[in-house]
Amino acid sequence: MTYETLLIEQHDAVTLVRLNRPQALNALNSQTLADLIAAFAAYDADPAQRCLVLTGSEKAFAAGADIKEMSEQSFADMYGSNFFAGYERVTATRKPVIAAVAGFALGGGCELAMMADFIIAADTAKFGQPEIKLAVTPGMGGSQRLVRAIGKAKAMEMCLTGRMMDAAEAERAGLVARVVPAEALVAEALKTAATIAAMAPLAVLAVKEQVEAAFEMPLSAGIRYERRLFHALFGSQDQKEGMAAFVAKRPGVWTGK
Ligand code: CAA
Repeated sequence: MTYETLLIEQHDAVTLVRLNRPQALNALNSQTLADLIAAFAAYDADPAQRCLVLTGSEKAFAAGADIKEMSEQSFADMYGSNFFAGYERVTATRKPVIAAVAGFALGGGCELAMMADFIIAADTAKFGQPEIKLAVTPGMGGSQRLVRAIGKAKAMEMCLTGRMMDAAEAERAGLVARVVPAEALVAEALKTAATIAAMAPLAVLAVKEQVEAAFEMPLSAGIRYERRLFHALFGSQDQKEGMAAFVAKRPGVWTGK
């Protein structure tokens, strides 16, 4: 499958999705959203694909939603079409997604990176929610996910001033899992993805579901939910294999069953 705004590479069980609108610093237009919806649906549906890395270019992960496309839209256009709701397909993805961010991740770009399960940043990465400078607000989850990722004070400051956060600050604040040299970004993200892709598939799905539940549920309900998923894995062949392999001091071999 080929896409107008994405480049896809398969690295064994790891799918690399590269945003590819260099002329617009990967600004996210309707075509990009349509392509992302199709690519993420294909990833989720294919058992041979086990982890996805989403990246951009050296200069920009994505410089935001496409301002040129939005500039003439009316309230009726935006509200009537529920503009940006299509990104819920990205966050509905059941399998793991890593964002590998170099350069600008601004507005919708920062928000798209935060839709991933975690972010690995190049030392050149710059995160920001500059929508306020356009007389609008974040619209793809930034005001919600940024608060959960870095707390109210920094999120409020960033959304109210539009200032950018560099990679070192993003790591200190907990927005990114780690920072790597720009030239090693994609290789490091692929290596991390390969590690995840080698784990038992049902356990990987369950971990993602558990951690996400922490953002949706009160603590006691989340802990009960976690425990039920833990119990459920004892119905899998891979749990028997994983624990038997540990006792026999050999690597486990997974069937995904
Ligand atoms: N939408 C559309 N086009 C964009 C764009 C965007 N978000 N960001 C950059 N571009 C285009 C520029 O218009 C320019 O195109 P032309 O050559 O045709 O003029 C091209 O990409 C290169 O950009 P610059 O010349 O501006 O590059 P720079 O290196 O001087 O500056 C930048 C880089 C600081 C990222 C600057 O491009 C910029 O500020 N971009 C906009 C950032 C922004 O405001 N993002 C938020 C968008 S709104 C949003 O995302 C809403 C939401 O919550 C989802």
